[in-house]
Amino acid sequence: MDKQSEVANLPSQVYSVFSPKSGTVVGFIQWLTRSYRLGKNLCILDVGCGPGKMLPEYARLGWQVVGLEVDADFYAQAVQLAETLERVEVQPGGFNDIKQRAAFDLVMAINGPFAYLLEPEAQVDAVERVYRALKPGGVFFLDIPNLLWFLKNDPEPPQAKKSIAGQMIQHEAQYEYDVHTATFTQINEYTVERPNGKEIKLCKTDEHAIITYPELVYLLERGGFTKIRSYNSYRSRRAAPLKGKRIMVAAQKPPK
Ligand SMILES: C[S@@+](CC[C@H](N)C(=O)[O-])C[C@H]1O[C@@H](n2cnc3c(N)ncnc32)[C@H](O)[C@@H]1O
Repeated sequence: MDKQSEVANLPSQVYSVFSPKSGTVVGFIQWLTRSYRLGKNLCILDVGCGPGKMLPEYARLGWQVVGLEVDADFYAQAVQLAETLERVEVQPGGFNDIKQRAAFDLVMAINGPFAYLLEPEAQVDAVERVYRALKPGGVFFLDIPNLLWFLKNDPEPPQAKKSIAGQMIQHEAQYEYDVHTATFTQINEYTVERPNGKEIKLCKTDEHAIITYPELVYLLERGGFTKIRSYNSYRSRRAAPLKGKRIMVAAQKPPK
């Protein structure tokens, strides 16, 4: 990537512009905490918080927030944002670095972080760490792409054009599936059109494990979780069998 970009921390800005809007997610999360009767004044861990665009929304609810981020660009952006917020801190690392014990009412991983765990051992370790990090009665919520749905429906990869700080950015993606390793790779190319007519390209490749819902339920039950519920959309306000392109699942550490 040409580091001469005039946009500060381009990977974070690009992610923020092309990713889903945070309001719908936060509304759902608030509803979820009520549906599991978690109470108010929550202490939460946002695993894979990205550049942190959800952090101000959780802070606004009066929650104590820890963001965890493994990507250096995203982490730097999230730390900068957290410095402007009360009760929010950001730590470096991913699922397999969680060390807290009985610290959180809610641990969540929005928009795919769990799918970055490619090996079953890493997935088992992540579930065990989340379980230990939750208080009794605490809830784990995650969402990952429903790649069985992708394989069945063969959707077109995204293409879009948006503007960041006066520069047009074209996003084009490709999908690759490896049925031997059960992985799915999204290859993203972002082309920035500079005002002087020059173009710079940013490439980002995301490799995900193809995890099915029954496998996820197995992992969660094996890890001690109960009250496992699935949801189809952030607009939904009820648990339902999955039918779409996302696996959204919540599970509870049993109360004492
Ligand atoms: C699509 S982004 C979602 C960011 C944010 N949660 C949001 O909704 O905007 C996926 C995030 O997962 C993070 N990630 C990658 N590997 C991870 C791991 N092993 N554990 C936790 N998060 C990981 C990435 O760095 C990235 O920030």
